[in-house]
Amino acid sequence: MKTVGVIGAGQMGAGIAQVAAQAGYRVLLSDLDLAHAEKGKAGIAKQLDRAVAKEKISQSDRDAALAHIEPVGDVSAMAPCDLVIEAATEREEVKRKIFEAVGKVLRDDAILASNTSSIPITRLAQAAPDPARFMGVHFFNPVPVMGLIELIRGLATSDATVAAVEAFGKTLGKEIVHANDAPGFIVNRVLMPFLNEACFALGEGVATIPDIDTAVKLGLNHPMGPLTLADFIGLDTCLEICKVLFEGTGDPKYRPAPLLIKYVEAGWYGRKTGRGFYDYSSEEPVPTR
Ligand code: 3HC
Repeated sequence: MKTVGVIGAGQMGAGIAQVAAQAGYRVLLSDLDLAHAEKGKAGIAKQLDRAVAKEKISQSDRDAALAHIEPVGDVSAMAPCDLVIEAATEREEVKRKIFEAVGKVLRDDAILASNTSSIPITRLAQAAPDPARFMGVHFFNPVPVMGLIELIRGLATSDATVAAVEAFGKTLGKEIVHANDAPGFIVNRVLMPFLNEACFALGEGVATIPDIDTAVKLGLNHPMGPLTLADFIGLDTCLEICKVLFEGTGDPKYRPAPLLIKYVEAGWYGRKTGRGFYDYSSEEPVPTR
């Protein structure tokens, strides 16, 4: 495997492109258009510059990684890829359209994988050029820091596809876990009820935002409190995944917290909109309740 395509140059796609380029792959990075793809590459350059400043990587490694990344205008440029990872918006119809378009140019032996955090892989595979060469490859944010990749096989995914993507993931220095195609896979199945419970606790007046976060951060030795993490992931994304768990299992224990729904209805999605449980307009986040 030498050439990797990454579709979507946002936070996740850029992170995936960065780690693949640092591992020596040629990376074709696409987004809505060339300007968006180039913006993604510029963000990666900033991350790599930071790593050079901290003496984590050398200037020449930074230059080599960046030289491996080629922004492209659309998915029709993905023809040379051995593996294409889709990391576009978490909307099924968007992903289906992408698969249809990229399916027209992919080689017969190329693998298509989706970084979906919650959409069933077997269902998505129906839009892929070949369900045997399609699977889920779930990275975590921030990709360069987080050591895990969850691999999810659909009903039709072949053993050869799983083996090839597992080998690729290991070359990125990530630990690999295998999950069945069940709602939320492993991490989000466990994480989202935890974040959702923090939203219930806040909504029911158990404690303030900073006290909930401090309690979990220090009491459980987590890097971030749950409300900070929910803001970091995006409250809209958290709500979507809660809905997938709720609808996919039919179990009321997964019902989204009313406060989480309200925040999303208000357009308060967390860091990405500048406001969620915290206000990010000043240097230090300020709790909003
Ligand atoms: N890209 C690259 N590197 C980053 C980064 C980013 N966006 N953000 C932080 N880092 C690096 C920093 O450069 C620093 O590196 P260093 O230790 O080598 O100097 C290191 O991470 C620590 O960063 P900071 O000192 O700035 O800040 P923190 O110590 O607070 O760490 C954090 C930040 C790594 C984000 C940490 O708080 C953390 O691990 N939080 C939990 C993140 C998490 O749970 N992610 C999973 C979300 S769930 C998900 O992605 C699944 C999806 O489907 C919802």
